[in-house]
Amino acid sequence: MKRKKITVIGAGNVGAACAHWLVARELGDVVLFDIVDGLSQGKALDLFEASPIDGRDVSIVGTSSYAETANSDIVIITAGLARKPGMSRAALLEKNCSIISFVTQRVVKYSPEAFLLVVTNPLDAMAYVVKQISGFPKNRVMGMAGILDAARMRSFIALELKVSVEDVTAFVLGGHGENMVPLARYSTVSGIPLAALMSPEKIDAIIERTRNGGAEVVSFLKTGSAFYAPAAAVGQMVETILKDKKRILPVAALLEGEYGISGCYVGVPVKLGAQGVEEIIELDLLPEESAALEKSHQSVRSLIERLKI
Ligand code: APR
Repeated sequence: MKRKKITVIGAGNVGAACAHWLVARELGDVVLFDIVDGLSQGKALDLFEASPIDGRDVSIVGTSSYAETANSDIVIITAGLARKPGMSRAALLEKNCSIISFVTQRVVKYSPEAFLLVVTNPLDAMAYVVKQISGFPKNRVMGMAGILDAARMRSFIALELKVSVEDVTAFVLGGHGENMVPLARYSTVSGIPLAALMSPEKIDAIIERTRNGGAEVVSFLKTGSAFYAPAAAVGQMVETILKDKKRILPVAALLEGEYGISGCYVGVPVKLGAQGVEEIIELDLLPEESAALEKSHQSVRSLIERLKI
């Protein structure tokens, strides 16, 4: 069986960590691309030299030539600036839009059938840019953020209750920004609703920490933003698509009427499988949850409008 080809654009913190997860899970041959000459080649060679230790039979190639990315099955886009302390993701908008537009044009020329998985921030707006520039169908263009935000919430719940992270599920809707909507009502520990295990004050504190999860990491790092957890989330999405697992995961998807939203990328529960975004699951939301989602949607939309794309 021919191995799948997965390209990662951007060999910085997130891109290199993505490549690491993809190789560790033996999901396919990996091409790591960066405009900085030598960066992707050095990291790819280093990763390849780790593969005998783990017994992973995939090729890992670093490049700064788009021709080497040709005929990828999945392209992960991480190129662009990361935020620094005090910056919002929105502050990256214009610069990352121009990087992403350029990258997308090149990527789609060489891999017209690929799934495009966007990681660059501000996430939802960048996913929209990639959709517009690529002209790909909406099932093949998606953004990673909800799995990360939900994983942060799950970690904090597990920490608070001193239980296994494995047993904790959580759901986060909306854009990947300060107005994201962590849904405590859909968060459980082995099926037990969170509200039965924790006081409302504790739940509120976890929701707040989840919203600021990215900023908390940035405040420690000072020179960049999170990469291990974002990359793990990418690895899970790639695996879900390539193995046609049809998992229900929070993914930034193009909405066309779902949740009363049209023409905008927002994080929603998605059935992810071999066709990419196979279905958007519409939850019955309480009025206050709907209002929070609408607020989050409006903040994404205002970014998209600033871009005039
Ligand atoms: N083409 C390819 N690579 C590019 C381009 C381009 N046009 N422009 C920049 N890059 C590369 C940089 O050379 C750098 O290696 O993107 C990489 C970004 O890496 P980091 O600065 O380490 O940033 P990282 O932490 O990986 O974050 C990347 O993901 O989570 C988001 O907010 C984060 O938008 C940021 C992105």
